[in-house]
Formats: sequence, C-alpha cells, structure tokens
Amino acid sequence: MNYLDALNKRYSVKKFDPKKAVSSDALYHILEAARLSASSLGLQPYRLIIVQSPEMKEKLIPAFYNPSQISTCSHLIVIVSKNNIGNEYIGNYFSHISETREVPLESLNPFRDSISKHIQHLDPKEVMIWADKQSYIVLGNLMFAAALENVDTCPMEGFKQDLIEEILGLNPEKEKVSVTLALGFRAEDDAFQTMKKVRKPDDKLFKFL
Ligand SMILES: Cc1cc2nc3c(=O)[nH]c(=O)nc-3n(C[C@H](O)[C@H](O)[C@H](O)COP(=O)(O)O)c2cc1C
Repeated sequence: MNYLDALNKRYSVKKFDPKKAVSSDALYHILEAARLSASSLGLQPYRLIIVQSPEMKEKLIPAFYNPSQISTCSHLIVIVSKNNIGNEYIGNYFSHISETREVPLESLNPFRDSISKHIQHLDPKEVMIWADKQSYIVLGNLMFAAALENVDTCPMEGFKQDLIEEILGLNPEKEKVSVTLALGFRAEDDAFQTMKKVRKPDDKLFKFL
C-alpha cells in the first residue's frame, strides 16, 4: 500500500473486532520496525512488552481510562523506558557495537567517554524525559509499520501508570511505562473510522524559509 494511503486509512481505533487476531508474521514485521528505530546516541533506552494473553489483557483493563480498546484488541504493546543509564548499560552497548561491527573495543573509547559524560550531566528527571522521547519514536514507527501491514492501532497514554507497572511487575526504580499501543482490526461499528481527519492546514503547520 502507498504510504500516504496507509496514513490516511489509519485512525485511532476505539473498538477493535475481538474475533480478529494479528498474524505472527505481521506482528514480527511491525516489531522489526520498532527494533530498527533510531534513538539518541543509539542507546535504545527502552524495551517493549507485548501482551498477547487474554488473561493479561483482562488484568490490564482497569488500568486504562478508555478500556474498550484493551478489551477488544489482539495485542497490546507496552513501551517501557529506562529511568537511568549507568556505566554498565553504556559498557554493554559498546561491547555490542564492537562485536557487531568487528572493531576493537578500545577504538570506541572516545565515543564512549563522550556519551558517558553527556549522560552523567543529566539529572535523573532529564534522563527520564530523554528516554521517554525515544519511546515515542518507536511508537511512531510501530504505528506506521502497522498501517502498512493493514493492521489497525490505537496509541494510548491514558492509563494509570502505577497500576500497569504493578500488574506487569516492573521495578519503578529502574523503568517506567512510557506509552502503549493497541493492535488489531477495526470493528465494523467503530464510528470513528468514517470521521474526517482533523489536521492543521499546511500554512499553519509548515513554514518554508
Ligand atoms: C501519544 C498518544 C497518546 C494517545 N492516547 C490516547 C488514549 O489514551 N486514548 C485514546 O482513545 N486515544 C489516544 N490517542 C489518539 C489521539 O486522540 C488521536 O491520535 C488524535 O485525536 C488524532 O486522531 P487519529 O489518530 O484518529 O487520526 C493518543 C495519541 C497519541 C499520539
């Protein structure tokens, strides 16, 4: 599908068809778009939890302010971002670069030192905001990839963060829920699918200099 057609067809689904499941092939392709996402300094300060079991989805329903998507979706992706980036995490990242690109670890020292310095200068709140921003790049790519795979989505940040973290057994000192994405197929009677898109006109959105 042409990508603009896919973006026009995409909308934030309020009600999915609970009888339709996303195939594992489509899911894999969509997740690959997340894996290939760009991130600041390449640090990927996040991970994705893919909720597919009906029992776990059921448990998560009370954590959302719009529960209709959670009770009807095929999969729910929870993007979890890191609360802090320590030297160990940075060290592992550089070992990974060294192995993947087959370059000596020492040759990466200048880059590693500059990253460590940069991260150390951020206070914990800034690290959380920075990591959160990276999660939203993943979110955008997931939504775009899903649209191209003809899979419908609804991005959701209307949730009780503490409750999701408790249900998923996350350690709030280490990571937090950034944003979530419900996946599935639009229900025939979801009224939102026929509504026109409300978007700023070009002259309010773009400035050419
Ligand atoms: C980061 C983010 C969080 C959102 N959270 C919710 C949400 O919690 N519940 C919901 O029904 N829609 C949510 N939306 C959907 C927006 O309301 C929707 O994208 C916007 O109104 C534009 O409509 P469209 O996506 O249907 O084109 C969210 C969208 C984004 C990008």
